[in-house]
Amino acid sequence: MLEKHLNSTTEITESVPTESFRLFDTILVIDDSLTNLEVLYATLSNLGYEVLVEMDGLSAIEQVKNNPPDLILLDIMMPKIDGFETCRRLQADPETKDIPIIFMTALTDSVEKVKGLKLGAVDYITKPFQQEEVLARIQVHIKLRRLNQELDEQKQQLEERVQARTAELSQTLEELKRTQLQLVHTEKISSLGQLVAGVAHEVNNPIGFISTNLYHANQYANDLINLVKLYQEKFPTPGNEIEEAIETIDLGHISEDLPRLISSMKLGSDRIRGIMQSLRNYSRTDGVEKKAIDIHEGIETTLMILQHRLNAQTYRSGIQIMKSYGNLPMIECYPGQLNQVFMNLLANAIDAIEEQMEGKEYDKGKSRSSDGEEFTPIIYISTSLDREYVSIQIKDNGQGIPESTREKIFQPFFTTKPEGKGTGLGLSICYQIVTEKHGGILDCNSSAETGTEFIIKIPLYHH
Ligand SMILES: Nc1ncnc2c1ncn2[C@@H]1O[C@H](COP(=O)(O)OP(=O)(O)O)[C@@H](O)[C@H]1O
Ligand SMILES: [Mg+2]
Repeated sequence: MLEKHLNSTTEITESVPTESFRLFDTILVIDDSLTNLEVLYATLSNLGYEVLVEMDGLSAIEQVKNNPPDLILLDIMMPKIDGFETCRRLQADPETKDIPIIFMTALTDSVEKVKGLKLGAVDYITKPFQQEEVLARIQVHIKLRRLNQELDEQKQQLEERVQARTAELSQTLEELKRTQLQLVHTEKISSLGQLVAGVAHEVNNPIGFISTNLYHANQYANDLINLVKLYQEKFPTPGNEIEEAIETIDLGHISEDLPRLISSMKLGSDRIRGIMQSLRNYSRTDGVEKKAIDIHEGIETTLMILQHRLNAQTYRSGIQIMKSYGNLPMIECYPGQLNQVFMNLLANAIDAIEEQMEGKEYDKGKSRSSDGEEFTPIIYISTSLDREYVSIQIKDNGQGIPESTREKIFQPFFTTKPEGKGTGLGLSICYQIVTEKHGGILDCNSSAETGTEFIIKIPLYHH
């Protein structure tokens, strides 16, 4: 009957879910008396309900599960299980417990009515049936049921919306937290950059005096030495006093050593100038614009800044740096940020090597541990050019990253280092700089045997 009606209502669009769409309310009548069934069937069908009938509790429960009705009319006295038991079982099953049940009872029997209501029935109707009463009660409960269903649906929808919104909010919060951290970090780096730039600028002047004055000092010293030599030639016997003085100060040594001393001072001051220059390059406060730079220069300066950590320590030998630089063009990038990436990756590599060597009791500054095991800490840095990108590999032979933590290393705050040492921010910032700022890729390969390798790929053309 339902089928037939559906076919004839062509204006109903397909998007209407068939679950909530029903032209007929379905009523299941459970009664072992054929007469009662016939009466109810006729009355209810005439009123436009779809009527299902069952003559005992067990098959009724089956029917309810397979084809849940909107309302159940339930007789009390039945063979096998009676109406109360049927009601109890339907109420106990979460799938069927929301279907309203109306008991059919004899007019006089108030004990049965109370028992039925206590078992979860919503109402009762009395035999012999009063057609108006039956109809009124059925309509009320079917309506109640519909309203309840709608309420449930709305509640469900509301919950889903709340959940979706909460998820959105917590994601936004995560993003906010990350941005904030990056700001703090960038702020730190940039104020550090300003400090370095300031110091480099201040040191530049005095070092300038020293190197220009060294030039003159060198001239003067040469002049004086030549003059003394001339004196010695012209006056080979200057007398006791002068000869003694020449001996005391060891004039021969002075005239040989002074020029060497001055040239080594010159070498030192040149080196300081070089270091200051690269520090200034490194800390350029140029966050906003991209620049074409020599990537190798950034790597070299980073290594220079980290030199004190690469040197031999009391508990281990120095860390060797093996380089294999490809022939790279100038690369368009944010130099300050890329230097930060090199710094973080190299610092992590050094940490990993130190952790690898820790606890093995290497002899002072040696690479042989007390149990005779030989280990040379090495960091490999290689660069190469592909058609579309440059790649920079930084590989260490440290302790490696265990499988279980590998997927977490790029998460902000993830660290395996003790408090105060690690912040867990390095890699998450590297990742962001490489992928978002430069449209590149940051990859990681690692194993406990060979150590860890990070590969940075920066596209040559990125807009
Ligand atoms: N080269 C590496 N070798 C081994 N583990 C590494 C290496 N680089 C990173 N890790 C792991 O990833 C974690 C996160 O690194 P990072 O984000 O730089 O934070 P942090 O260095 O402050 O711990 C480290 O704590 C470490 O466990
Ligand atoms: Mg780190």
